[in-house]
Amino acid sequence: MELCAEVKNLTVSFNGETVLDHITTDFAKSGITVLLGRSGSGKTTLLRALNRLNETFPGCSASGSVRIAVGGHMTDIYAENAPDTAQIRRSAGMVFQTPNPLPLSLRKNMTLPMELVLGVRGADAESRMKEFLCRVGLWEEVKERLNMPASSLSGGQQQRLCLARSLALEPDLLLLDEPTASLDKRSSEVIEALLQSLEERIPMIMVSHSLAQAKKLGDHFKIMSGGRIIKEFGREELPDGRDAEIFLEEMLL
Ligand SMILES: Nc1ncnc2c1ncn2[C@@H]1O[C@H](COP(=O)(O)OP(=O)(O)OP(=O)(O)O)[C@@H](O)[C@H]1O
Ligand SMILES: [Mg+2]
Repeated sequence: MELCAEVKNLTVSFNGETVLDHITTDFAKSGITVLLGRSGSGKTTLLRALNRLNETFPGCSASGSVRIAVGGHMTDIYAENAPDTAQIRRSAGMVFQTPNPLPLSLRKNMTLPMELVLGVRGADAESRMKEFLCRVGLWEEVKERLNMPASSLSGGQQQRLCLARSLALEPDLLLLDEPTASLDKRSSEVIEALLQSLEERIPMIMVSHSLAQAKKLGDHFKIMSGGRIIKEFGREELPDGRDAEIFLEEMLL
């Protein structure tokens, strides 16, 4: 199986308290991996270990190894000769629970990161902006108001903007931490359809609280409890129909 990330013996603690406890697991390159588990089980911390975001919080220490595909090559991101964290975070893009557009115009939200990270500017940045806003289905909705503050968009539109912003930086891997948790049902469905349409293009690792969403989107499942992965299985093990949600619920117990 081709991998997009490989975690070996990963332990993460905050202020001496163990939050991830000797985790060893592989993430498939194809399809969407869904992380499920009760609140506090370590899902967000595991996602953040994959792009070295944990260390931006005080009191964090980590041991073990994490390799992700950077530019197509499996790379130990904590090694001494690892790429810098900016490159790692570009490679493993992240979308958060609450949309986090920059306090700038829609246009700048797209073009500024492109300029800073990829060195793309001017007409190239404009056409790239259009390409990725189209890809998330936002272009027609926003093309007349690109200079308005991004905060003037609805929550669902903001989240699609954040996805477009991440995707435009050509990540190797997308980390999604409950990307629909702050959205209404309709907006969640739009994002879910979008993630399904992206599945062929980019590996995704997603935390979800919704078993219905997990059932709909997940190809691979990892169940977390107390800082460990307690069960791992593939879509083929899910029963059909509503029984799938009952199956997942039982896994969480
Ligand atoms: N920056 C931090 N500083 C201190 N403790 C932290 C930090 N981040 C996470 N923790 C602790 O690590 C544990 C796991 O947190 P984490 O956010 O990974 O859980 P989670 O599974 O994502 O939960 P939820 O479903 O509520 O989002 C919790 O006990 C939390 O308090
Ligand atoms: Mg979380």
